[in-house]
Amino acid sequence: MKQGGSDAAKRAAGESAAEAVEDGMVVGLGTGSTTAHAIRAIGGQVDAGIDVVGVPTSFQSRELAREVGIPLSDLDEVSVDLAIDGADEVADGDLIKGGGAAHAREKVVDASADRFLVVADPTKTADVLSHPVPVEVLSAARTTVAASVRDLGGEPTLRQAERKDGPVVTDNGNLVLDCEFGPIEAPGALGSELAGLPGVVEHGLFVGLADAVHVGGEDGVTVRE
Ligand code: 5RP
Repeated sequence: MKQGGSDAAKRAAGESAAEAVEDGMVVGLGTGSTTAHAIRAIGGQVDAGIDVVGVPTSFQSRELAREVGIPLSDLDEVSVDLAIDGADEVADGDLIKGGGAAHAREKVVDASADRFLVVADPTKTADVLSHPVPVEVLSAARTTVAASVRDLGGEPTLRQAERKDGPVVTDNGNLVLDCEFGPIEAPGALGSELAGLPGVVEHGLFVGLADAVHVGGEDGVTVRE
């Protein structure tokens, strides 16, 4: 998993994207260590008097947003003006997400936003997507989906908790198969195949959703539209 980027690069990307937040906006709050910098920066803007409502994408982002004082709501009550979220890999504006097992809610919030900004460090960028694709599955479907993933040319691995005392369980109560496909030349087509498998809740291919990618680095931030 590509998580070797420096915290300084992640902070630069997160704070750069947070500058796009304007008074009165509803902001989708993604998940992960890079987005956490954006959430903290938005908390600072709230302290300074800006009026913002956040829509969290995970337990983790909800807790951090509460800690830094961002008022929260959900998609039953508000619609999202701007979403800020991280990625495990970015190629030509398409993403693989789900390193934090939050990609199902992330996709709902990010796709609903008028504008979606990705925040990343340079280790996340690639010419072609090739990171394993996280696929959230109903627990009853883990074996049948794994077989179908093999039929599609992938190699699925059930994601285990860091303490190795059982599988990762998502905020939605499901399991995650990390599916190695090698270089993914047609992410849209693979995403459609995965989405069509019975028991798949959501996959981590985010194709054509991002409006801009903020990549933090030693010499500042590059914004790719
Ligand atoms: C969570 C995600 C994260 O945005 C992704 O894993 C990147 O995380 P980080 O910024 O910590 O590298 O998709 O499901």
